[in-house]
Amino acid sequence: MATLVSHTTRELDIRHLWHGSLQHHGLEKNPPLEVVQAEGCYVYDSEGRRYLDAMAGLWCVNVGYGRREIVSAVADQMSRLPYYPLTQSHPPAAQLAAQLAELLPAGLQRVFFLNSGSEAVETALKMARQYARRAYPGQNRYKIIARHRAYHGFTMGALSATGQVSRKRAFEPLVPGFLHVAPPDHYRCAFCQKEPGCTLTCADEFERVIRLEGPDTVAALILEPTIGGGGVFHAPEGYLERVRQICDRHGVLLILDEVITGFGRTGKLFAFEHAGICPDILVLAKGITSGYLPLAATVSTDAIFDAFRSDTDDSAKFAQLSTFGGHPCSCAAGSANLEILTRERLWENAERVGAHLADRLCALASPRIGEVRGRGLLVGLEIIADSNRTPMPERQVVGLQRAIREAGVLVGRNSDTVPGFGNVLTIAPPLTLKKEEADAIVAAVGKSLQPQ
Ligand SMILES: Cc1ncc(COP(=O)(O)O)c(C=O)c1O
Repeated sequence: MATLVSHTTRELDIRHLWHGSLQHHGLEKNPPLEVVQAEGCYVYDSEGRRYLDAMAGLWCVNVGYGRREIVSAVADQMSRLPYYPLTQSHPPAAQLAAQLAELLPAGLQRVFFLNSGSEAVETALKMARQYARRAYPGQNRYKIIARHRAYHGFTMGALSATGQVSRKRAFEPLVPGFLHVAPPDHYRCAFCQKEPGCTLTCADEFERVIRLEGPDTVAALILEPTIGGGGVFHAPEGYLERVRQICDRHGVLLILDEVITGFGRTGKLFAFEHAGICPDILVLAKGITSGYLPLAATVSTDAIFDAFRSDTDDSAKFAQLSTFGGHPCSCAAGSANLEILTRERLWENAERVGAHLADRLCALASPRIGEVRGRGLLVGLEIIADSNRTPMPERQVVGLQRAIREAGVLVGRNSDTVPGFGNVLTIAPPLTLKKEEADAIVAAVGKSLQPQ
């Protein structure tokens, strides 16, 4: 106890905590921001400085900080039933599953709860493999096709689907059976540079690989409708529709990872709504509770769920359980969060204020901003070194990020993804953001880009 009282929490952190994706060498001189309080779109550090949190924590505090409704729902649940596993049942999980089902298309109604996006992706991959074996007896459909630059999580399966070499290299070899195709990258497109417009060749790449590998070996495709942490690459017009058709043609499942894009971030409740398609499996996390408590969900169609039912073969069931997945308090937080999100129709604010934010960022007309990629409140700024679109070196982009923080705004960066391309600043604030707050983000970015 003596150690605890005689040291600041910052010192205790440096001594004892092991942070993910952070180089601890030199951390004493440059410690991480110690956040102690938050309200609305703002967080406060231990020295009382206020920052506009333009990353909503880690792309997740969609309804903003300080929502008492969520706090009361969790406190109430905590005193009523603090824990029970979903090997049996409890009301908060059933209620939240039904709430989600109501927000989702009629075909997508079956909810499996987990604790994190990584686990939910892992679960989707396992469901897809087992489903393929049940739906196509005699075939060996186990391969999963994903995209370079995408992120799907830190567990071995989700990491195998991830297309970011910097996050994978130290842990290889990963899980066999994962393949990757090029992402849609309008700014540096290798396919359409000589074309008058987008030809969707990047979508057709999925089909090319399915044909080369043999459709009877492929279980599923997995993609984020917008690649988030990898550098904010939105699906071009017609892309998801094309991918859906390819999946249908070859009996391959379409898994959409909406861990970032779900719950209003792109200006629709779910990003697949922009394309008018429906996935076979949908992965949700982050905004499901707006980060107030850990929770994630893997949602499947009834057709997939039904393939796991059998009155003769018990091994047909999905043999996976999770101690904390669907925790009653997390589900209570999720229900209260969804009530706020739908009552305030926050995806509409995301669309409106997001469009304003993207316009204002474009109006900065900085030669250092190669492209502003905005959809709703999910924005990427491609930072370049020259007019040949050379990515600005990471060290300098980190400097920009720091300067923006000095100006009181927290933005993100696509760090540890692909060497040489860590040059995208990311903006994903709470969906409650006001236009004046969007202007404050733009002012901080603009200031950081001015020549010193
Ligand atoms: C698209 C996507 N999928 C999966 C994950 C993994 O989620 P978690 O960090 O909750 O495990 C993330 C995390 O940022 C993500 O952005």
